[in-house]
Amino acid sequence: MSEQIAFAASAAAPAAEAAGIHKQFGSTQALRGVDLTLYPGRCLGLVGRNGAGKSTLVSILSGIYPADSGEVRFDGVPAPPLGNVSAWRDRIATVFQHSMVVPGLTVAENVFLGRQPRRAGLIDWRRMREQTRQVMAEWGFQIDVNQPCADLTVEQRQIVEIARALAAGTRCLLLDEPTAALERGAIERLFARVRQLTASGVAVLYISHHLEEVFEICQDAAVIRDGELVLTGPASGLSKDDLVTAMVGPDAAATRADLTRAGAGRSAAAPAADRGAPLLVIDHVSAESPGGRVRDTSLQVRPGERVGMTGLLSAGVSTLARIVAGAAPYESGRVLLDGKDLPPGRRDLALRAGVGYLPEDRQADGFVSALGVAENSTMTITDWLARLAGFLRPQTRAAAAAPLTRALSIMSAGPDQPVGELSGGNQQKVTAARALARKPRLIVAITPTRGVDVASKTLLLAELARVTAETGAALLLATDELDDLAICDRVIVLVRGERFTEFTEPPFDREALIAATEGMARDAAAGGGASKGARPTAHPTPTDRGHHDRASGLRRHSSRRPRPGRGRSRPPGTQPAHCRGLADPRGRAAAGPCPADRRRQPGQQRVPHRLQLLRHRGADRSPRRHGGR
Ligand SMILES: Nc1ncnc2c1ncn2[C@@H]1O[C@H](COP(=O)(O)OP(=O)(O)OP(=O)(O)O)[C@@H](O)[C@H]1O
Ligand SMILES: [Mg+2]
Repeated sequence: MSEQIAFAASAAAPAAEAAGIHKQFGSTQALRGVDLTLYPGRCLGLVGRNGAGKSTLVSILSGIYPADSGEVRFDGVPAPPLGNVSAWRDRIATVFQHSMVVPGLTVAENVFLGRQPRRAGLIDWRRMREQTRQVMAEWGFQIDVNQPCADLTVEQRQIVEIARALAAGTRCLLLDEPTAALERGAIERLFARVRQLTASGVAVLYISHHLEEVFEICQDAAVIRDGELVLTGPASGLSKDDLVTAMVGPDAAATRADLTRAGAGRSAAAPAADRGAPLLVIDHVSAESPGGRVRDTSLQVRPGERVGMTGLLSAGVSTLARIVAGAAPYESGRVLLDGKDLPPGRRDLALRAGVGYLPEDRQADGFVSALGVAENSTMTITDWLARLAGFLRPQTRAAAAAPLTRALSIMSAGPDQPVGELSGGNQQKVTAARALARKPRLIVAITPTRGVDVASKTLLLAELARVTAETGAALLLATDELDDLAICDRVIVLVRGERFTEFTEPPFDREALIAATEGMARDAAAGGGASKGARPTAHPTPTDRGHHDRASGLRRHSSRRPRPGRGRSRPPGTQPAHCRGLADPRGRAAAGPCPADRRRQPGQQRVPHRLQLLRHRGADRSPRRHGGR
């Protein structure tokens, strides 16, 4: 606990305290004497590299794990015994990093899990559904509250988790990377709620790898490194550089040089014209999906080319990427790799044809929790490894995995550690290793840096860039993290499942990209101005005009103004397209105002978009990183 925070919060008694917490898992010392205090009415931002111990601390503060030593206190009183779940639930509400939504239960049942409203001793289902509807309406989502959570998108499930924690009404709230799967509108609403809650005296712990978010909503900040709290203080007295330097530690200068080399390792891709025939052809593909529909979309990617795809999450970006990876079906059109059809929804055939895949939902599709790091990383090349030796020994796998785990800076206790025991960001890196192991000809990556710390993010992107430059593999990168697009040769923006515009000249203008994702300013972009290199889609469709005509409906999302006379207002009380994907999986017009149209609260700032170029770059040189350097 820093003196500065103590001074700032001296008037209030702590709402929650972790005092001298130690926690060890096998040979891994996850926490080493951590002291952390949460004060009523203040939000503390906790940051640190992947595997630093953040989620372990959250689990101990939530009564999931016992500490080996040390004490948790609420309002100065020792925490209840671990098994007393309802007593913990009265004191603290948590949004965990790993999904705690029960897929087989409905949205309403999940929101009120363990604290269902009752009448005459029985669960009051009607009230439960009604209250859930209200909570969802507050979030601007018209999710059917009777829908099983298994049918929801990753973002919708995250909203259910957040709604559950916020509705609990506790004095302490822990949020472990709550925005990782959220798009801009939902992040703004979450931040507004966090501000309201702190204003009403709630103590909040906020964990994020988006450091700018810490400065956006936190009064205090703390950095944890290798299980130790190394920096705490009021956020106003700290810079992003201070946080990154504390996260990376004394090796910062050396590791920064490593990273610069890693980044420089990628050579500039050859001009498109020199790269020969297209490797990937997406030909007028259409698909319906709860994650966003795709409509009559075409795209070609040449060998060695790195093509970014972005848009609001409901715009069909991840759907199209999943289609190409063979992980989702489509209704019409064709997908060809090297002139050969990739059958819809056949991930096995796509893998064999040379498509490496980093899925969006790493927990569901990215790894096998009970298997080790080496086995997961080399899962896609089991046949190769077995063929080489005639049989497959663990050492063979470990040797094959070592270069990948090293390049991606995967931190674990060793090649045999089950991936389920790794920190969230390291699980994501294992997913990346698995995708790269088979030396793919096409890499399809959906939000590959989600949950990855700022330094490892640079390494991961540099590795993707290096692989494409050196092997001639093509990259299709679907993301809402605009800084990830920096490695791309061009960027396609999808709006409502269709190609809206394309940016062809890096570096890509951030504001123009944001405007384009919101279906705005395509003409302005094409005409030059701020969005250098943007050009109208190669396949304009009649409905493309429709997006532009709806500019007035979208205007309040952006500081840019549509040209006078071009906009056509959408009917009052209806939602613009980007709100519909979540409101209605089939994209039908939904009633009710667009949540993003609500005016910002006084003093509330616009959420900075996720385009943050690292000023500090560093890599973890922890001895726990296996595979050596
Ligand atoms: N159940 C477990 N069994 C074994 N090791 C574990 C377990 N849970 C966490 N660890 C280890 O403890 C360390 C801290 O992990 P933790 O999940 O707290 O990191 P984190 O700071 O949340 O990282 P991230 O930013 O990637 O989410 C890691 O080395 C992790 O592998
Ligand atoms: Mg974590």
